[in-house]
Amino acid sequence: MILEQIIKDSIIQKSQPIGFDKFMELALYHKKFGYYRSPLQKFGAKGDFITAPETSNLFGYTLALQCQQIINNKNCILEFGAGSGLLASQILFELNRLDNLPDKYYILEISASLKQEQKNTIKNTVPKLLNKVVWLNTLPENFSGVIIANEVLDAMGSKRIIKKETNFFELGVGCKNNNLEWQSFEKPYVGNTILPDIKLLKNGYITEINTQAIAWINTLFDSIKKGVVLLIDYGMSSNEYFHHQREEGTLKTYYKHKIGNNPFLNIGKQDISVSVNFSDIALQAKNSGFEIAGYTTQAMFLMALDIYQYLRNESDSYKHLVLLQQIKQLLLPVTMGENFKVLALTKNTKVKLTGFKEQDLSHTL
Ligand SMILES: C[S@@+](CC[C@H](N)C(=O)[O-])C[C@H]1O[C@@H](n2cnc3c(N)ncnc32)[C@H](O)[C@@H]1O
Repeated sequence: MILEQIIKDSIIQKSQPIGFDKFMELALYHKKFGYYRSPLQKFGAKGDFITAPETSNLFGYTLALQCQQIINNKNCILEFGAGSGLLASQILFELNRLDNLPDKYYILEISASLKQEQKNTIKNTVPKLLNKVVWLNTLPENFSGVIIANEVLDAMGSKRIIKKETNFFELGVGCKNNNLEWQSFEKPYVGNTILPDIKLLKNGYITEINTQAIAWINTLFDSIKKGVVLLIDYGMSSNEYFHHQREEGTLKTYYKHKIGNNPFLNIGKQDISVSVNFSDIALQAKNSGFEIAGYTTQAMFLMALDIYQYLRNESDSYKHLVLLQQIKQLLLPVTMGENFKVLALTKNTKVKLTGFKEQDLSHTL
């Protein structure tokens, strides 16, 4: 309730709506009451949602196989937005087994409570490797290695826009009779990102522009000397993103495993996410100077890296069955397999990444 009032006060003070990107930033990252800053459990069965590393250790192990192609026992890994710390512990465990540990495993995490959770997870799962992990507050300079962001871009502040006759208008958050509500800005929206073809859409069509994620790509380019960025997220290319049937946009909320679409409920207690428009991210990446090294579905990426080897190597029949169920969750199209995509960007690095050897959909971006 306190956070809701803070947001309302900031709207009333300005006497105009705030952008949805600003609303998302306050609801998720307000320094005291934002969802990701609070100690509430977010991940796993007792939380609000389950991410791929929470689904199975095999996700991190397989990602480690992709990292090892670039690490060569010297480069570093930087994980952006590390959640509960499970992905870090899975990657470190597997790279240790493969005798190919990075020099350092950096974590850049905005939430103090999650930093503590990450430390606990790593201490409990791979205690001997805790000394490899360094928590950063800002992007490092001259970074060489692999940068990973799993399900982070979709939690960054996005703008919402609505079609009215011949223009798009930004759909902000206003306050009327002490209730938060959607309110359109007065001037037509002009942005420098990819917009849908307005002629193909009906009046009232709503979509999102992942503004902060796009801006983040630029800063990322500057901090890397040499390396690969792996962006894994719920999302699609522009063609699908702006499909005329997706008329309410991609905004979703997660509260105790219930998916909703009202961000004005449970403020500070529910997650808010907006799917990633990978075409926009790729365009911004190319404009910044990155090269696109691959784009595919999570399923094809994990299969190209041979996730099934962990199943083949499991002789215990019960464990085998459990792993099979987990792999299904990661690979099936209706669960995570096709809804999630992997986009790889490179800077000063010529490498044919194994994860894209079965399928590369870069031409669809
Ligand atoms: C949906 S969670 C995903 C967590 C984890 N990567 C996983 O797959 O389980 C989003 C994570 O990104 C972090 N985050 C979001 N924006 C961030 C930013 N600007 N800087 C650092 N961390 C951020 C959140 O605090 C949280 O840890």
